[in-house]
Amino acid sequence: MVGNKVRLRPIEPDDVLLLLRWINGSAALQWLQPRLPLTQRQEQAWAARAATDPQMPTFIIQTLRGVDIGVLGLQLESNRGIFGIAIHEPRFWSQGYGQDAVEIFVDAAFQVLPLQRIELLVLPENLRAIRCYEKAGFTQEGVLRSYLYNRGKMQDMIIMSVLHEEWRRTTERT
Ligand SMILES: CC(C)(COP(=O)(O)OP(=O)(O)OC[C@H]1O[C@@H](n2cnc3c(N)ncnc32)[C@H](O)[C@@H]1OP(=O)(O)O)[C@@H](O)C(=O)NCCC(=O)NCCS
Repeated sequence: MVGNKVRLRPIEPDDVLLLLRWINGSAALQWLQPRLPLTQRQEQAWAARAATDPQMPTFIIQTLRGVDIGVLGLQLESNRGIFGIAIHEPRFWSQGYGQDAVEIFVDAAFQVLPLQRIELLVLPENLRAIRCYEKAGFTQEGVLRSYLYNRGKMQDMIIMSVLHEEWRRTTERT
């Protein structure tokens, strides 16, 4: 999948050390659901699953110049896809890489998977992510109150989605 700024490439076995560095130490972690550090073996198992499990299509985000900058993917639940993304290299934040990655992935997902909707959860204070998702066609649906235990307290989460119908109308216009 290739866009204007990024391409999405499959996860390969050689990516494990890069993924491990990101998941245990990147600046993006402050915006993601907290978890204990992963071992290399755990990351290896996750990467192998992410590369092969049809229920969790997952890709590495790479700039068109060939720099690996993050990961995105879906968890499939019946006709819903639950979306997640992290650009782990902060020097690439707020330059449109996220929007491009989200748009080409959502487009491909609706084209090949029988999805009614793609949804995601985001922290209310993550304004950069919310803006990115809105630019890519997502709508804020509401606030899930006291939803997630995060750094010692319960936090609200915003749920956003894009429906197949909305995506279809947009692609018909272009
Ligand atoms: C969220 C993320 C994928 C977005 O990708 P990105 O490449 O940074 O996003 P984009 O550049 O496409 O869009 C960001 C927009 O937010 C704007 N923005 C940045 N900081 C902002 C802030 N504090 N308040 C409001 N808008 C802000 C940018 O200016 C840009 O809008 P514009 O194009 O209208 O100027 C990326 O920043 C990231 O991975 N962050 C860390 C992990 C994370 O938050 N993951 C999402 C968890 S739900």
